[in-house]
Amino acid sequence: MDCSMMKFKLQSGKFMPLIGFGTYLITGNQLIYQVLDEALAAGYRHIDTATVYHNETSIGQALKVLLPKYNLKREDIFITSKLAPIDQGEGAFSAVQESLKKLDCGYLDLYLIHWPGAGRLPVNSQENNKLRSKSWESLAKAVKAGLVKDIGVSNYTVKHLNELLMNDYGVKPSVNQVEWHPKFHQPELLNLCRQEGILLQAYSSLGGTGNSNLIRDPTVVQIAAQLQKTPAQVLLRWAVQQNIGIIPKARTEEHIKSNIDLNFEIPVEMMTRLSNLNSNEKFAWNPEVVA
Ligand SMILES: NC(=O)c1ccc[n+]([C@@H]2O[C@H](COP(=O)([O-])OP(=O)(O)OC[C@H]3O[C@@H](n4cnc5c(N)ncnc54)[C@H](OP(=O)(O)O)[C@@H]3O)[C@@H](O)[C@H]2O)c1
Repeated sequence: MDCSMMKFKLQSGKFMPLIGFGTYLITGNQLIYQVLDEALAAGYRHIDTATVYHNETSIGQALKVLLPKYNLKREDIFITSKLAPIDQGEGAFSAVQESLKKLDCGYLDLYLIHWPGAGRLPVNSQENNKLRSKSWESLAKAVKAGLVKDIGVSNYTVKHLNELLMNDYGVKPSVNQVEWHPKFHQPELLNLCRQEGILLQAYSSLGGTGNSNLIRDPTVVQIAAQLQKTPAQVLLRWAVQQNIGIIPKARTEEHIKSNIDLNFEIPVEMMTRLSNLNSNEKFAWNPEVVA
């Protein structure tokens, strides 16, 4: 099956394209328009943003022009945004309204609690737990009010996720978006997500911005050469081949195009070699420290 068409069924019964376009550190009306134009042309139908990326307004404005350009309707596109840690708690409902106003797209497909901790609280404070539970209660109300179709979490560890599953206010999480790549992946978390019907969505699949440790890893480079693909394609295909969502971020047209061109198979032995690179090497923030 064409990779760009692969979808995952969420708790609402709606489908999310497994491949999305990440927009962290992409800001400004002109740049957002340019990359989204290239992304839609390449076949991406899923955009990942967040309140803290400060690009929701630019994305909303760009889509007003780009959807008609590509003969697309709102429902042909999947849009995710995320709750800023500072808005954890009852304010989560108005945070969804605010994101929706900026994106100006009628409804959100998915809204995630960006981080298990709350802004201004020490990471080890037990108040974090109470606030993220309040956030979830508010987000469940946002689903009932029709502002958002599905809700989920990001950077939740097994502990955070189990705690949420015990008290989900009648709405199960659809997605857990976490750092995930051959050098950092956690089978226990993946098993829990699968058991609960939650999509594990990988971020920093390429090692994040400004760090080439992953993309230049000798095993990744060697496998890419053997398969006649780029190291980035191998890293992305490694995730997709395990039914893990991806949201690679890219600014150049060449990267944008090749990151969704993943219709090849990595042989089992190479998949194992890639998975065996697991060494707890992280490129992003560490949620294990959040109480
Ligand atoms: N929930 C969270 O806490 C969280 C945290 C981090 C990220 N995210 C989400 O996940 C998305 C992706 O993660 P990320 O931004 O950390 O980084 P990433 O996707 O792992 O890597 C982005 C970097 O890789 C480069 N790149 C892209 N395609 C490439 C290719 N084909 N070959 C070589 N280099 C390539 C990009 O360069 P160019 O830009 O120059 O093309 C950029 O420097 C973010 O944009 C965001 O939407 C979420």
